[in-house]
Amino acid sequence: MKEKIALAYSGGLDTSVIAKWLQEQYHAEVITVSANLGQQKELVGIEEKAYKTGAKKAIVLDLREEFATEYIFPALKAGALYEQSYPMATSLGRPLIAKALVEVARAEACTAVAHGCTGKGNDQVRFETAIAALAPDLKIYAPLREWEFKSRQEEIEYCQRHGIPVKATKENPYSIDENMWGTSIECGILENPRVAPPEDAYQRTVSPEQAPNESATVEIEFESGVPISLDGKALPPVELIMKLNEIAGAHGIGRLDLIENRLVGIKSRELYEAPAATVLHFAHRELERLTLDKDTMHYKAKIAHDYADLIYNGLWFSPLRYALSAFVEETQKVVNGVVTLKLYKGNITLLSRWSPNSLYDERLATYSAEDQFDHKASAGFIKIYSLPLKTYYRINGAPTSKPAIEAK
Ligand code: ARG
Repeated sequence: MKEKIALAYSGGLDTSVIAKWLQEQYHAEVITVSANLGQQKELVGIEEKAYKTGAKKAIVLDLREEFATEYIFPALKAGALYEQSYPMATSLGRPLIAKALVEVARAEACTAVAHGCTGKGNDQVRFETAIAALAPDLKIYAPLREWEFKSRQEEIEYCQRHGIPVKATKENPYSIDENMWGTSIECGILENPRVAPPEDAYQRTVSPEQAPNESATVEIEFESGVPISLDGKALPPVELIMKLNEIAGAHGIGRLDLIENRLVGIKSRELYEAPAATVLHFAHRELERLTLDKDTMHYKAKIAHDYADLIYNGLWFSPLRYALSAFVEETQKVVNGVVTLKLYKGNITLLSRWSPNSLYDERLATYSAEDQFDHKASAGFIKIYSLPLKTYYRINGAPTSKPAIEAK
């Protein structure tokens, strides 16, 4: 019986060559699976492209809604930023694409799946750990790790030999991956970290210099940690993210130039553009300052780091990620309210925050006559609070340090 392989298909040169190559190499039938995660690059004509490679079936799935609600929002609520900065558009997309690939493989009775990730990146790990979790019996092909082609030119010639049309467009100097949560840009001149990013590397944001002289104000409402409306207008998740990408991108918000630690041991340099993600993480964090109690807020910040690592390292479907997610969910019950921000030439400024669950109590915070804080209670508190210190130094002698005032 012929082997049947479900291939994650972007429609680009690599995955088009893979589609054909798998058929030749393994006498296999190939079903291509393309996912719409809200990328700007349209998927129109992708089925036709797939059939030109000899694929038996070409499937296109609109996963935008699921991506926003089941992947992006949990990461947003967790405050998950890899190495404190990267919102992980690429890292979050992979487990969902892997899940879709597995679902198609099951529905079409495939015995294997395939992807077009390189052998030195994080994405191969993310795909394959997700598949291992969801469908450990499926064989996985990663042709880029094993095939004979050494250059783009060789791949183009292979396509020409097999009658697969390739566009004679000039090669993009960068490798780009994008979806509604952001764009990742690497390769070419960017591989030298001494070189400032050329303006043409950016795909969806203007430079602060090119941004309008008039600022924009955005008002974002959250319910249980999730954004539900923009400027007073309720919007479904996908629309809200897309709209915010447009507004913030036009004001030069969300650019990031990062040296990061890859899972496979390499330090790499990548540019990111994530206008909506940057604004939403900012707003969400501010709302948490207002609504989370101190202990929960501090504890959550500690696990945000681990949560981000799990996403980045391909462990989305791990028991620990599910467990941390349950914790995060519990914390978000009170993260309701409205945050108003000013966007101006690449910067975000907080204008106002409000929440029905606000823990900020003006009667306690004020220095005016309305003050209701019990000042006298502080004396007893400090007495007990400092008791361990007093005891320690009574036994061990006073702490030594350079005297602030020289004795005469
Ligand atoms: N470094 C990012 C990550 O591991 C993005 C990887 C893909 N980047 C690209 N330009 N194709 O999540």
